[in-house]
Amino acid sequence: MDGPGRAGEILDHFQLDRMRYKWRQWAIYPCNWKVAIEAFLEPYHVAATHTQLLAYADYYAASQQYGLHSVSKYDAREDKFKMAQASGTVRAGKGEDARISTYELIRENYETVMNTASTETLVKAASRLVDELPENTTPAECIDHWLKSAKADDAARGVIWPDIPPEIQAESGLAWGLFPNQNILHGVTFASPAYRVRPYGDDPNRCIFEAYALERFPDGEEPETKWVFAEPTRDNWGPVLEQDFNNMEFVQKGMKSSGFRGALPNPHQEQKVINLHRCLAAFMEGRGAPRILDESS
Ligand SMILES: [Fe+2]
Repeated sequence: MDGPGRAGEILDHFQLDRMRYKWRQWAIYPCNWKVAIEAFLEPYHVAATHTQLLAYADYYAASQQYGLHSVSKYDAREDKFKMAQASGTVRAGKGEDARISTYELIRENYETVMNTASTETLVKAASRLVDELPENTTPAECIDHWLKSAKADDAARGVIWPDIPPEIQAESGLAWGLFPNQNILHGVTFASPAYRVRPYGDDPNRCIFEAYALERFPDGEEPETKWVFAEPTRDNWGPVLEQDFNNMEFVQKGMKSSGFRGALPNPHQEQKVINLHRCLAAFMEGRGAPRILDESS
């Protein structure tokens, strides 16, 4: 198997090895492990599945293959949102007042995706943007101020941010699909949410679904955590994961329908899904390889 290659070089900048679990939990879920990890590989589904999030940002995303691995990144189409920080979760919110919309976006993600996609430091610093910056501050100015202020807050409590070159930040995007069964949304002091899915014995209709949050903590203040079994419910996983869980089981059923000709992944937004199946097929001596639908139906 290839090493992590360029994917590893990029992720090394984020020093994931310095992060520790904030929480970690798992479930047994009724779909195949590939169906489960696919549900988290692309933000393409946000517009249909997590419609409440559309009030805060656009979720149009590019995607790119890196050998066995692959990345997704938000693909900003408006000039005012084009910047190194636009491709990942720590980005400007949409709306007239970037000071307010940026806070609302990061708060919504944090509160509805189990305290992930940023950190408490970042959320608190974003909440102050409206007091610390004048009206008509541009999205780029908001992001610049927000990150400087959160970096200083973290430094004061002993969490030192790694220096990440802007070109690496831009290339690193939103989330890495690490072959074959992981997906990690990364940030400068966090890697969350992150997912790992495994087969459930030899049952093709069930999987072991794991999710966790990594974060950088002051030395000696890392929380004690353990893997917690949690039924896949809203109470245990929050409203956004519940929305994903509500789909995955029925995607599994739909794939077995006699009317299902095959999946049609989006070539701009779903390269991670395409790459997963292409690479899996290589390991399986060609079985399960993507093929032209017209030849198979
Ligand atoms: Fe989702």
